[in-house]
Amino acid sequence: MAGLKKLFDEKPNLRFIFTGGKGGVGKTISAAGIAYHYASDGKKTLLASLNPVHSLTSLFRQDLTGGSIKKVEGAENLYAIEVEIDDVVQRYKENIAKRIREFMKWADIPIDPQPFVDIATTNPAFQESAMFDKMMDIVLEEGQNFDKIVFDTAAVANAVRLIGLSKIYGLWLQRMIKSREEALSLRVKLSFRKEKVMEEIKKDPLMADLISLHEKFTKVRGMLLNKDETAFFFVTLPLSLPIAVVKRFIKMVTAYDIPVGGVIVNQIIPKAVAGKTTSEYVKNQYEQQLHYMKIIQDDLGDLVVSYIPTYESEVVGVDMVRKVAEDMISYIPDFMDELS
Ligand SMILES: Nc1ncnc2c1ncn2[C@@H]1O[C@H](COP(=O)(O)OP(=O)(O)OP(=O)(O)O)[C@@H](O)[C@H]1O
Ligand SMILES: [Mg+2]
Repeated sequence: MAGLKKLFDEKPNLRFIFTGGKGGVGKTISAAGIAYHYASDGKKTLLASLNPVHSLTSLFRQDLTGGSIKKVEGAENLYAIEVEIDDVVQRYKENIAKRIREFMKWADIPIDPQPFVDIATTNPAFQESAMFDKMMDIVLEEGQNFDKIVFDTAAVANAVRLIGLSKIYGLWLQRMIKSREEALSLRVKLSFRKEKVMEEIKKDPLMADLISLHEKFTKVRGMLLNKDETAFFFVTLPLSLPIAVVKRFIKMVTAYDIPVGGVIVNQIIPKAVAGKTTSEYVKNQYEQQLHYMKIIQDDLGDLVVSYIPTYESEVVGVDMVRKVAEDMISYIPDFMDELS
C-alpha cells in the first residue's frame, strides 16, 4: 500500500483537494479516483471541474454539463459540477461592469464608464480571476454542504499563483480600503450637510465591494493554506517532462506555503505485462520506465503517495473510476525491488 490511505487517515478533516500536473498526465482520473474513494467511504463528495472542456461528462459518460451540481449515477454520495467557463466569465464581467457604473454614478464622475469597464474586463488574466472567484465561491458555499470537495483544474499553476498572490491582494485591498476611507472622510469634512454625506458613504458600492472581497480572500486563503483541510496532489508519468513539471509545481507551492498532499505516479507498466508482451515498443517503454521510476524515487521519494497502472483501455465509466480509486489506494508496482 502506498501512502494515500495513510494520509487520508491522518487527515480526517481534509476537505479541499486539488490535482495538478502537465497536460494529459491523468489529473482528471486521479481527482475522480480520490473523489470516488471518499464517496464510497460514506463521505458526501463533490467533484468540481474548472476545465474549459467537459472532462467529467466524458469521464463518467453522463451529462454533467450545465454548471450546476448533479448526482453521479451509479456512485453513492458522489456529486459533480462542470463549471461553464463562458457563463462564469460573462457573469463576472457583467458584475464588474455594473459595479464600475454604480460607482461612477455614486461618485458623480460624469464620464463614460465604458473604457474603464473594458480595461477591467479584457485583460489577459481576467478569465483566470473569474475562475478563481468561482473556485472561492465553491469553497465557501459548497464547503458547507459537502464533506469533501475535489477540484479538477487544468490551471493549477494559476490557482496556486492566485492563492499565493492573495496575500498581496489582501494587502492591496487593505490599502484600497484605507484610501477609500480617507477620501470619504474628506468628503464629509468638505460638506455642509454631513448627515446626508454619511448616509451616502454607507452606500458607497466600491467600499462595500472592497470589504467583502477582502473578507472572502482572507477566509478562503486561510482554508486553502490549512494543512489539515487542504492538499494539492501532483500527477506525473514515469517520463522526464511530467516529472520536471511536478518538481516545478512542488517548488512553487511550497514557496507559497500551500499544503502538498503528495505525488501520484500514473500509467505504470507492470513487470508482469512487460514480461509477457511480444511488443518491442512495450518492452522499451518498460525499460525506460525503470530509469524514470528510479529518478522519481531518488528525487521525490517520500512524496509519492500513490501509483496507478496502465489500463488496457482509457478510463471511462463509473466502473473504471472505481478501479482507479481502488488502485490509487492499494496498487504497488511489481518491480520496486529492482530500482535500488
Ligand atoms: N492509467 C491509465 N490507463 C489508461 N488510460 C489512462 C490512464 N491514465 C489516463 N488515461 C487516459 O489518458 C487520458 C488523459 O487522462 P486525464 O484526462 O485524466 O488527464 P488530464 O491530466 O486530466 O488531461 P488534461 O490536461 O487534458 O486535463 C484519458 O483519456 C484517460 O482515460
Ligand atoms: Mg483533465
